[in-house]
Amino acid sequence: MTSLSNDWLINHQERINLNLKSLFAKQANSQIKKVCEYAVLNGGKRIRALVVYAISENLKVDLKKSDNLAMAIELIHAYSLIHDDLPAMDNDDLRRGKPTCHIKFGEDQAILAGDALQTLAFQIISNNTFDIIDQFKINIIQTLSNSIGIDGMVLGQSLDMLYTNQKISQQKLIEMQSLKTGKLFEATFVSSYYLSEKNDLDKMNFYQALGNQFGRLYQIIDDILDLTSDTQTLGKTSGKDAINMKTTFLSESGLSKAQQEANKIYRSIKEKLGKDAQGQERLNLLADVIYNRDH
Ligand code: IPE
Ligand code: IPE
Ligand code: MG
Ligand code: MG
Ligand code: MG
Repeated sequence: MTSLSNDWLINHQERINLNLKSLFAKQANSQIKKVCEYAVLNGGKRIRALVVYAISENLKVDLKKSDNLAMAIELIHAYSLIHDDLPAMDNDDLRRGKPTCHIKFGEDQAILAGDALQTLAFQIISNNTFDIIDQFKINIIQTLSNSIGIDGMVLGQSLDMLYTNQKISQQKLIEMQSLKTGKLFEATFVSSYYLSEKNDLDKMNFYQALGNQFGRLYQIIDDILDLTSDTQTLGKTSGKDAINMKTTFLSESGLSKAQQEANKIYRSIKEKLGKDAQGQERLNLLADVIYNRDH
């Protein structure tokens, strides 16, 4: 990675962090606001927000138009993590190197913070501060809501729980990963494309397929790191998938098959990006970051 690309990552992480901070500064003070802030402003790699900025830059979208979308996606992601960590789900007590939301504030407040973050996400992409043509605004709201609910991320999370300690087919495993993690990535890619206020079906399909692959790569690397990295580096308890008897690529096929699968997806992503005539420098960088990350 060059120092210029590193600067790009840091600058845009700062951009999303500052935006999220000022979003909360505008909300009235309350205990639930404190809980929400804790879960959102506690670090995080901001990979999904960086995807929004990467695609926006490529499509020459004014980044001021991208800010609300980038925030909305990070709020949805933060909500999914709060609920994912709850005792009834993965029962984790460490997230981003700090006590999980329910450990810090109690399960009741953590559940409600997840609910509040999800609605806040849709508030900021439906109101007037999100300044894009109404039709594309609706497309984005539909894309996101279709991707995270009953046949998207929540379905994936439900399958993840139902498949605990089960042998499942490779096809079911891929479907589960594509839903629980891939769907939000897919929606991130497609809605970032919509920011350009264009509706080219080929382009949309390109971004959707790429989003799905980014999501699957993301989850397989997450599963690998759960086994190979340590708690300090991860900022979450390592080895937790085995303790929870999670069905992952590793439990089904072992570490080296999982690494091979990750490499296959990574190479396919790079090939797709290489074929796009329009110089996807930033998405290339993000694919490298996702593939080579240590947490
Ligand atoms: C963790 O997501 C959950 C998965 C979908 C694998 P991230 O690794 O993006 O978490 P943060 O936002 O950087 O903490
Ligand atoms: C979570 O996957 C996917 C979500 C939709 C939140 P994991 O359960 O593997 O995420 P971590 O390891 O707790 O971050
Ligand atoms: Mg989980
Ligand atoms: Mg988890
Ligand atoms: Mg995990």
